[in-house]
Amino acid sequence: MKIVVLNGSPKGEVSVTVQYVRYLQKQFPGHELKILSVAHEINGLERDQAKRQTVMDEIESCDGVLWASPVYYFLVPSQLKRFIELIWERRAEEIFRGKYGAALVTSIHCMDHTAMNYLTGISEDLGMRFVGGLTPASDDLTVPKERTSLINFMAYFLHAIETGAPTPRSFAPVNYSPGTYRPADFAEATATPAGNPGTGDGKIVILTDGNDPESNLGRMISVFQRHMPSPVEVFDLNNVAIKGGCQGCIHCAYDNTCVYQDGVKQFIQEKLLPAKAIIYAGNIKDRYLSSRWKMYIDRTFVFGHTPYLSGKQIGFIISGPLRQLPNLRQIFEAHTQAQRCTLLGFATDEGDTETITAGLQALADRLVWALVHGLQAPPNYLGYGLHLLFKEFVPMVSGIFRADHIFYKKHGLYKDQHKGLRQRMMNLLFAAMNSLPKTRREFQKQMKPGMIADLKRIVDGAKPAAG
Ligand SMILES: Cc1cc2nc3c(=O)[nH]c(=O)nc-3n(C[C@H](O)[C@H](O)[C@H](O)COP(=O)(O)O)c2cc1C
Repeated sequence: MKIVVLNGSPKGEVSVTVQYVRYLQKQFPGHELKILSVAHEINGLERDQAKRQTVMDEIESCDGVLWASPVYYFLVPSQLKRFIELIWERRAEEIFRGKYGAALVTSIHCMDHTAMNYLTGISEDLGMRFVGGLTPASDDLTVPKERTSLINFMAYFLHAIETGAPTPRSFAPVNYSPGTYRPADFAEATATPAGNPGTGDGKIVILTDGNDPESNLGRMISVFQRHMPSPVEVFDLNNVAIKGGCQGCIHCAYDNTCVYQDGVKQFIQEKLLPAKAIIYAGNIKDRYLSSRWKMYIDRTFVFGHTPYLSGKQIGFIISGPLRQLPNLRQIFEAHTQAQRCTLLGFATDEGDTETITAGLQALADRLVWALVHGLQAPPNYLGYGLHLLFKEFVPMVSGIFRADHIFYKKHGLYKDQHKGLRQRMMNLLFAAMNSLPKTRREFQKQMKPGMIADLKRIVDGAKPAAG
């Protein structure tokens, strides 16, 4: 059988993910695994119709499509995202319809499931028969057990094609026909509410890739902007000098210097870092924002695994069916949590004009409140998990990611709050009490009151909140 492998790594052949495919080529010599480096070649594919046609011809003649991609910021790299956009833009989706598909995604296991969900959803939207995915860690190929998983994954993919195995959808199709958002009484919709306390010092910025005043997104940005008591600066990513997508070269790991000499790092340092709040605004394109947005996000890798936005308030203004895309919402939330920021919420254009305006006003009110009161939310599971993962990963690779290591040491991010001396002493005591039936019975009797003892002391001593 012929399997077309759509390689999503911007590194082309010199890619970790491609090594997994090369291994599969050796394991399954009776089948052709044709690798097409669509991410590496994206500029040519964008410009050159003949090149694009060659890729589409290969896909048309194959029995199955294997997406093979690294995870970049909880999704696929911007170059593969762009390739996916081109499929619809150039009306090539029919070529994929009915083809069997699968995905192989390598990473350090940081939100690899959202990248896999994305590729699953995209495959299903293209009418493909998606069999499943495998998400090995970058170095799993060196582990015999994981090589067996890889072989089994491929064997099942081939088996599914051969036998015409059923492939039920995992994700519902997205149904979205947006109305035009045009508040009748624009002045009322955009008025700053009376008694609004203002937001004090500190910039508020909106980062968008679509500020056309005649679009829903453009009008939503205006309504939000005018509802804020302080000036809000809007930056359009189309005007930020971005020479290209992240190439995955990791040169920046040493001292946060990117191989591209363009405006991305400077833009972040000068425009975003001084801000107290950032509102991300964008149009949903397939099951994410645009590839331009993704290109910008990938390029923030110049700051490595550091929470360079730490402490900021973050909100989202989204034109598109966000409520139908919980995977995308989770990606947004994970970004906020990884950056140790506070998530204000999401305003979307799902609903009638009144509902949309109310959503924007709610976001603005929450932002004002958060800024006035210095709101900082504790991490949830996503944040906590991501911080633990980075705390393990960064020291493991500190020789390469030197800049991260310095940042983590300087900002105390390696410190383990839950393994303090008191906790260790308590554990010794509990272990001793649990070791004898008699003391264990007493210990278990005291379990519930013991669990709330520290908290109860705080509650008992609490006074009414100021103001
Ligand atoms: C810009 C960039 C972003 C990344 N984002 C993630 C991520 O969100 N989650 C993750 O687990 N790994 C992430 N990684 C690590 C890669 O997914 C991993 O190294 C992958 O195996 C590289 O595959 P490749 O050599 O085929 O490109 C990122 C790497 C880069 C360069």
